[in-house]
Parts: sequence; structure tokens; C-alpha cells
Amino acid sequence: MGKNFKLIKINENTLEFHLTNEKVSYLFRVMENNRQLEHLYFGSAIRHRHSFAYLTEREVRPSNNMFEGDHTSSLEHIKQEYPVLGTTDFRYPAVRIRYSKGDRISEFQFDTYRLYQGKPALEGLPAVYSEDEREAETLEIVLKDAWSDVSLHLFYTIFRDYDAIARSTKLINNGEYAVYIENAMSLSIDFPDSGFDFIHLNGAWARENHLERNRLLTGIQSVGSVRGASSHVHNPFMALARPETTEHSGEVYGFSFIYSGNFLAQVEVDTYQVTRAMIGIHPLEFSWKLEPGKSFQTPEAIAVYSGHGLNGMSQIFHELYRNRLVRGEWRNKERPVLINNWEATYFDFNEEKILEIARNAADLGIELFVLDDGWFGHRDDDTSSLGDWFVNRNKLPNGIKGLAEKIHALGLKFGLWFEPEMISKDTKLFTKHPDWMIHVPGKRVSHGRNQFVLDFSRSEVVDHIFELMDAILSEARIDYIKWDMNRYISEPYSVALPSDQQGEFFHRYILGVYTLYERLIQKYPHILFESCAGGGGRFDPGMLYYAPQAWASDDTDAVERLKIQYGTSLVYPLSSIGSHVSAVPNHQVGRITSLQMRTNVAYFGTFGYELDITTLEAEEKEQIRRDIAFFKEHRKLIQEGRFIRLLSPFEGNETAWMVVSEDRTEAIVAHFEVLAKPNRPYERLRLQGLSEGKKYQINEDKPLRYGDDLIQIGLLFGENFTDRADEYWAKEKRKDFNTRLYYLKALDEERE
Ligand code: GLA
Repeated sequence: MGKNFKLIKINENTLEFHLTNEKVSYLFRVMENNRQLEHLYFGSAIRHRHSFAYLTEREVRPSNNMFEGDHTSSLEHIKQEYPVLGTTDFRYPAVRIRYSKGDRISEFQFDTYRLYQGKPALEGLPAVYSEDEREAETLEIVLKDAWSDVSLHLFYTIFRDYDAIARSTKLINNGEYAVYIENAMSLSIDFPDSGFDFIHLNGAWARENHLERNRLLTGIQSVGSVRGASSHVHNPFMALARPETTEHSGEVYGFSFIYSGNFLAQVEVDTYQVTRAMIGIHPLEFSWKLEPGKSFQTPEAIAVYSGHGLNGMSQIFHELYRNRLVRGEWRNKERPVLINNWEATYFDFNEEKILEIARNAADLGIELFVLDDGWFGHRDDDTSSLGDWFVNRNKLPNGIKGLAEKIHALGLKFGLWFEPEMISKDTKLFTKHPDWMIHVPGKRVSHGRNQFVLDFSRSEVVDHIFELMDAILSEARIDYIKWDMNRYISEPYSVALPSDQQGEFFHRYILGVYTLYERLIQKYPHILFESCAGGGGRFDPGMLYYAPQAWASDDTDAVERLKIQYGTSLVYPLSSIGSHVSAVPNHQVGRITSLQMRTNVAYFGTFGYELDITTLEAEEKEQIRRDIAFFKEHRKLIQEGRFIRLLSPFEGNETAWMVVSEDRTEAIVAHFEVLAKPNRPYERLRLQGLSEGKKYQINEDKPLRYGDDLIQIGLLFGENFTDRADEYWAKEKRKDFNTRLYYLKALDEERE
């Protein structure tokens, strides 16, 4: 066994498992006395050896030991792969099972292992995948509980081309009694020291994915969600970076969870400075009855190692998620420049208004028109109609079909907004099926934005919504769907589940969401899906498996977007980040920024517009026409290039980032200055990622420069300055929200 396996090396005698693609190594072994798993190493690649016995550290300490007479067998002091509470480990466990006696003591011991070329799919769950058997290898470790018939299966996939390890866990009950899983993390790793900063993304509605970085402290630190969605508040991601790690250098471990529901991302530093990192479904509000003969598969988690700073980590996530998480025909297709009518009209529109916007849009070069909320039932505000997915003929007398035809006749694609998981009380659906609303009978149900949530843990509910959506999609030509989800779940309960299975509700709900997505994708593979949850309330890798792009935030202000998009890019590729140019004064913060600033920010994502373009001055329309042409010319580079963050909006007045093509012959650099500076010093922006020996043309008018000199010396902003005093003092030159955009193209000639 294992002969043809290149990325997974196994020392059969010592039962040591070494996953390595020559850039990273992940190493663990079976302990000889109790056959549990001991974690040995994760990081930059080390060479394989026939024994790693020297990595085992044991010490006699004043502690509880598993085996009588043995003073070194305390699990409290052993770095583990998948820890269990009890049997001498007192730290937070990765798995917790309640057995028929009521105890929660498991002791999982190694039984066997299996190897797979490529990566097996996770049934019913989003996951990264392999397209060709040679690009990944998977190891399954089977452990059996010493005291019950439950087996634990740990899956590890290593990729040839990505410095990432995918992990998930499966529990199987081979016994005669049901057991209850109270916790099952997707990944747990014990690091030998605690010299890290804890990095995560936090926020709220309209200020998602703000980067936060703090020194790791002794004890437990965590982020998570029990809101039924991954949430605006924390993203299912965390990183452990060395204190000296910057965007461009140093070690960092990134953990990302491919799931859209409740999650916990947690770090525990124990009294011996061991750092236990884990990520998985949040154990609060989770339990799962595992009946005899049944199995439970956790979602998947990804661990990334970079020795090249935060940018290095992000680039691994970007490549992996862009190429091996996003699926379907839109994965590699250039995404259309869209216009969405939400901020242009809100609920107040009719067919003529929509067509007027669409005609203007087509004229400017926009490619997709998206009809947002308000086209169904009698929805003129947010108090009604969710669940009644029938067109409102007062607004759209020709129906969705008629409107779609007219939009297509203008040469545009047509997209439609849905909020499939929701129900308003003022609907035919609620009158007919009041019990489909999530509620605990006899107790208060809270609303969010006047709406309630459908019980997607029930298959008949999912089936019904599928039928309603299918009726529209099969009748009208629809090229794009924006799938929204505008509130969290505050009273988790399903009237269809027995009381001892209510802990399954949240997970079953998300499985229902995934089922509906999958059915729609299978039936309508041409549709481009964009996920949304009041902006970025469910911007997570789980969603990316179904919807290649996601609306990053309801905040469309260019300055706020610098932070939101910078933070989002820590994990997610530009091809997934929905970003639009909107009107000024901005509808969320009232700020007035230039069209150029708004455009340059929105370029770095899936570019589009969200304002009433019919009211713009001719000059602005001309500018937009040119901006769209520029974007189309370079969108492949923006969607597929390597994104590099240069200056952080979390650290100062300036933000800069760039995107470089894989062959380094092209790049676009953007610089943003939020507040203007008087009597400014000389400034430079050092670039990254270029080919040192190549000579680059910068825009059309700048001097030619070599890659090494742009990296070492940088762009000189003084090039933009004038030596004419009258121009210097011109009022329009002294303004806030300045931006610069550079297009770099390598000439054929290399350095002599
Ligand atoms: C949410 C979305 C917006 C818009 C509205 C419609 O807030 O994030 O983009 O679709 O709902 O109600």
C-alpha cells in the first residue's frame, strides 16, 4: 500500500504519516501505548525520514496519567490530532459524544488507514475538489472507540499545487444504541508554542470583514457564530501569524471553514504554551443523534501555511478557492459588468423605469441587468410578500418573462433577486403553511426586517420553494440570480423534529439551503449565482461552492469599501467579491467621493453599478463608458491575476493594492488617499510581484521602468505633480478621496 502515492509518505513500522508536497509538511503518528494520534509538525516542508521518533517529547510531570505505573502518558502534555476531553486531557476537545450511560468518555484508537488518489466528494456538503487524480491525495485514518462501537474517520487531503491541507471528520455508529454527538470539529491542531498573533475578520452589517490582529494570550480566544449563518460579525476564518509577520514576509497559518452556518474558530493556549487551534460547527446549539448504522460527516476545513506573509496566505486561498471550490461554467468565464436597480429605485419601480435604466446601461457597455427586491407578491416595502414568488403585474404587466425578453432585446443579460429562505406573514404562503415558519409553538417569534424564516430543515419546504423558483426560471430566460438572506435565526427549532433532535436544527437548515442550491444549479447550469445576506452576512467558502460571487456589503461607499474589500481579500479571491459604483451622496454614510474613486475601488471585484444612471450628466456617462471599456479590456487580469495588498486602510490614510498576471507581463496598481494632505512630502509606492528583469510601460505617459526598480524604489507619485504654480493652487486639485490607477505592461525586451 502507498507505493504510488507521491504526496503521502507513510512509515509503516512506526505508523508515521507525512503529507508533503515539498512546500509544506504535515506530520503525525500513532502513539505506541494507547494508539491515539500524536501531532508532530505542520509548516514549511521538511525532508522525509524513515523515523521521526526524535520528535516525540515526553516528560514526567505532576499530572494525571492514563496508564498506571507510567508517569509520562498524560494526554494533557501530548500534542494531539483530534483531542477528546477526559482520559487526562483537560483542554477543549475536538469531539464529544454522549453515550447511553450518559458519560462523555471516548478513547479513539488507531485501527487502519486508507489512501485515495484525488479527493473524494463530501456528500451534500460543499468542499474543495480535485479534477485530476494526480493533483491531490487523500488519507483516511480510521480510529475505533475503545468502549463503544463508534468509529472516527479523519480525512486529510494534500494538494500538489496548493499549500493547503483539507480536513474533515466522519463518525459512524456501528453499535446497537444511539449516541449523541455534542461536538465534532472539522480540524484541530496542537502547535508546540504560542508565539502568535490571532488574526480574524469581524464586523457588522455595512462594515463587514474588518481585519483585527491581537497577540495571543494564555487561555481561550475564539470567534464564531450561533446566528444560523456564518454572519457579518465574524467570518469563518482565523489566522495565526508570528508577531513579526507582515503582508509580505513571515510565517502565518490560515484556517478557513467551508460552511455557511454556525461555526467556532478557536485557539487555546495552555499553561505549557501549546496552542490548540480548531475550527468547526459551533458546539453551542449543536447535537446530533447518531442512530445505529448511521454516520455523521462534518463540513470541511482548510489549513494553509505561508512563509511569505499574509499576502502569501491569501494567494493560496485565492487560487484554491477560485480553481477548486468554485464550480461550473462561470468558474473560468469572465463575469459580466452588471447594473442592479436596488439603490436606484428601491421598491419603487415599474417596467418603464426598469427599461429606461436598462437602455442607458446597454448604451454604456453594461452587460447584465439585475432586478432586485420588490418584483413579486404586493411587495412595496419590506413588510410583505416573501414566499409568494409570483410576479407583481401592477409593476410588471408583462411578467418576468416579458421583461426578460425586452431586456435581452437590448443586448443585456437578465438577472433576478430572490430571498428563498424567508417568509412574510402577509403572504398566501403563510396563510396556507403557518407551521413552515421557524417557531417554538406557544413562544415568542422575533422578526428581523419584518420577516420570518422558513424551516429549511424540512424537505417539503425546500421542495415547495424549488417549485416556485423553477416555475419562473423555466418560463423566463434568466441568466443570473441574486440569492439574498436578510435576517438571522433567533429561535432555532423545527416542529418536525423530535425533542432529542432539536440540536440538529441549525445544521439541517443549512443542508436544506445547500440542497436547494444544488437542485437549481443542476437544472440551470448556465445561471450565474451571487449570494448575499444583507451584504456580506454569509460571505463564506460554503456559499462559493454554489455561488461563484457574493455581494460583499450593503455599504457601497468607496472609503468604507477600502476596508471591507481589503479584509475580505484575506481569504476570498477578487472574482468572488461583489463591488459596485453607487450614487453620491452615498446612501449609507452620506459621503461624496469622486466617480473615479468609486470606480477604482469597485474595479477590484466583480464590477458593476448600482445607481440611477438615467439621471447622470452627459460628462459622467462618457466617463462611465470609458471606465467600462477599461474594465473589459483588463477584467481577465483582475479576475485571474495574483492580488497583492500593499498599504492597509486599517493602518493609515492610504490604501494600495495591485493585481499581477501569472506571467508577470501585466499589472494594475491602485492607490487611494482618503484625506488630502497639504504641502505634501515626496511619496513613493513600492510594488511587488513583478518580474525583476522586465521593462514595464506604465500607463501611456510615464517613463519606462524595470521590475526590480519598481520593487526596490517604487512608483514616484511626484510624477503627477506640476511645476506650474497656478495649476498647483487650482481648487479642484485640492480635494479628499484621491486615487491613482496604473496599468503596467511589460515590453518584450528583457534586461540586457
Ligand atoms: C439586502 C441586500 C441588498 C438588497 C436588499 C433588498 O439588504 O443586501 O443588496 O438586495 O436586501 O431588500
